[in-house]
Amino acid sequence: MIEESFRRTFGTSPEVVVRAPGRVNLIGEHTDYNDGFVLPAAIDRYIWLAGRPRADRNVRAHSIDFQDAVEFSLDSIQRDERHAWSNYLRGVSKFLEADGHRLSGADLVLGGDVPREAGLSSSAAVEVAATVFWQRLMKLELDPIYVVKLARKAENEFVGVPCGIMDQFISSLGRQDHALFLDCRDLTYRHVPLRQDVKIVVCNSGVKRALAQSEYEVRLKQCRQAVAQLGTTGLAVKSLREVDPQELEVAREALSVILLRRARHVVTENQRVLEAVKVLEEGDLERFGELMNASHESLRDDYEVSSKELDVLVELAWKQPGVLGARMTGAGFGGCTVNLVRKDAVDAFADAVRKGYQEALGLHAEIYVCQASDGAIVL
Ligand code: GLA
Repeated sequence: MIEESFRRTFGTSPEVVVRAPGRVNLIGEHTDYNDGFVLPAAIDRYIWLAGRPRADRNVRAHSIDFQDAVEFSLDSIQRDERHAWSNYLRGVSKFLEADGHRLSGADLVLGGDVPREAGLSSSAAVEVAATVFWQRLMKLELDPIYVVKLARKAENEFVGVPCGIMDQFISSLGRQDHALFLDCRDLTYRHVPLRQDVKIVVCNSGVKRALAQSEYEVRLKQCRQAVAQLGTTGLAVKSLREVDPQELEVAREALSVILLRRARHVVTENQRVLEAVKVLEEGDLERFGELMNASHESLRDDYEVSSKELDVLVELAWKQPGVLGARMTGAGFGGCTVNLVRKDAVDAFADAVRKGYQEALGLHAEIYVCQASDGAIVL
């Protein structure tokens, strides 16, 4: 498909084709920017990128999904508000060059089936795909962690979204049939096998994450404030990762009601991730599901990043047979829920949730039955 599109656009075959996946986070939400733990999986929805080098320093990029094209010079890479989709590619190109990797111009086409603005990290997939594209095209020797950091830098400093490292990490380093347990402080990780009799089912609320960015920034600041105020009690920590639930209890007087709630979410969520990884490795999916449910309650009540639509989807899921656990996933304020569902119950689950969501709110939920997939690859 992508090669065909390249041929139609540029009249010749691409030299390099890459793809990078979207992701769903199983547990560990709003912990990555607190140096904490996360457990995402890459999903079988991808951004594809096909291209070939040019003799000059111009990049001509064509977006299938936006039916739009841009051209820019590698000698002066600027943000483009009118073609915002191209900023991920621009950012990655700019920071590779800034790191001394001289690029040539290129003709390229990109597109894919990661739903946009759904909290499934289509932007991280574009950034990672673009980085891996340049890596292959220019035969750069790049460490995988460098690729992750560069892609995130493009998002933080060029696109201007202050996200943590989870999305780019999993899009780059996911593994088929596995989740990825990542320590966001030192970036050590390991892949944890997922059982085949259980499916990851994603329900898209259809609500764009309108508040997401401003509220995300508020949460980020609140976490930093909580760390600073805990410092006044003699609890000298650099991040909420270093605080355990007992310590938070002892120091609670130092925090306002809101900051205590925010901190409590992060501190308990980190504990949940650690337990979730343990029980997943032991094959105890019932307990894993309970931890997902507790994560949702904590995000809803303490971190306050859920929404009516997400709560309705989760509560519907909790009532269905064969559901081990359900929670909102990603930044919140819209986007998707993630559900762990026994394989033989998936069809009935999807029907019931679609119907219930329509009845409760008059809205349509798209449902994706996902396969945990490999991170970015060159094809
Ligand atoms: C967004 C960010 C991630 C992470 C999640 C919340 O997806 O991009 O870095 O913070 O929200 O867990």
